[in-house]
Amino acid sequence: MPERKPKVLVVGSGGVGAIGALCLTLNDKADVTLVVRSDYAKVNESGYSIKSVTYGEHENWKPRHIAKSVADASERFGEFDFILLTTKNIPDGPITCEDIIRPAVTPRTAIILLQNGLGIEKPMIEQFPHNVILSGVTLLCSTNINCVVCNSLKDQIYLGAWSNLNIKNHAEKEQSAINEFTRIYSNEYNKVFIDENVEKTRWEKLLYNAALNSTTTIVNLDVSRCQIAGANNELFRPAMREIVAIAASEGVEISPETVEKFIHISDGQFYSPSMCVDARKKQLFESEIILGNPIKIAEANGVETPVLKTLYTLLSMVQFRIKEEKGIIKIDENEYRNTNSDSYPDILKK
Ligand SMILES: *[C@@H]1O[C@H](CO)[C@@H](O)[C@H](O)[C@H]1NC(C)=O
Ligand SMILES: *[C@@H]1O[C@H](CO)[C@@H](O)[C@H](O)[C@H]1NC(C)=O
Repeated sequence: MPERKPKVLVVGSGGVGAIGALCLTLNDKADVTLVVRSDYAKVNESGYSIKSVTYGEHENWKPRHIAKSVADASERFGEFDFILLTTKNIPDGPITCEDIIRPAVTPRTAIILLQNGLGIEKPMIEQFPHNVILSGVTLLCSTNINCVVCNSLKDQIYLGAWSNLNIKNHAEKEQSAINEFTRIYSNEYNKVFIDENVEKTRWEKLLYNAALNSTTTIVNLDVSRCQIAGANNELFRPAMREIVAIAASEGVEISPETVEKFIHISDGQFYSPSMCVDARKKQLFESEIILGNPIKIAEANGVETPVLKTLYTLLSMVQFRIKEEKGIIKIDENEYRNTNSDSYPDILKK
């Protein structure tokens, strides 16, 4: 009898999800299903056009299975051994990541969060207390615009366990999920690093996300233009130093060299981070998991973060503008006319 290949559901068909599905399909050690929502008809008909520095060029490529939704995937192609979650993580948006994947989670499913940000594992464990949760950081640089996928940095994944104490022998089960995923994902072109300290990796990546993505998004300028206007000393380094202080309060040490690495990572490139690009396209972005959650941790640990709080409030206002433009929130000005502005936020919450 042929051995059963592990079934992997890739949720999120942006640049990271498409490349993940491609890699797993090329390796042929897993049975891959990709959830493709808005582009379903197009992908079903003509697939993706992929230019990847890691995996080469592929025309009209699609994975073994595509599905219109997670529920559809689960019905037709489940039950899954792994869910590789690569969507944006926007807990303040119309639907949480937990609700997105819920229809496909079964007791055998290990959930891999290949996503940005901090504090994203906790709500997963709360919603799926008996599932193995792995935390992954990707350094892939990849976009998917109208089914044209461009990947410009080598595919490297840092993968670690997020200890789920509800599970008996959790460390053993988490390790075997890591080993199995590493086996089906690895090939001669990419690199999966087993990361004993994936939390530290997340804090380090947060340096860039919290300081540069947020500032560029607020002012709608690329990184180099912000730097010409003086951002390095006035905003980027101060914001990063606050991240370093919060991480330290959690026992995670980040070196000054790491700060400098991220300050200079796109010197001279006039690069616009993806968050800034999303805002230009009037798409929601991940303000809660890159600023909201770290600020909550800072408050709990008594760390002062005046710069991050200011960035967070401004960034939330940009998100507010996009939500209103998309009709996700509606402001009835009459409700606010004869009211003290201190209670305005409560009116919106109602
Ligand atoms: C997908 O493509 C196949 C073959 O090209 C076609 O028969 C099928 O109707 C398509 N499915 C959907 C849901 O569009
Ligand atoms: C910040 O920008 C980088 C570079 O474009 C991108 O890889 C990352 O996903 C962005 N993070 C967020 C939270 O938008």
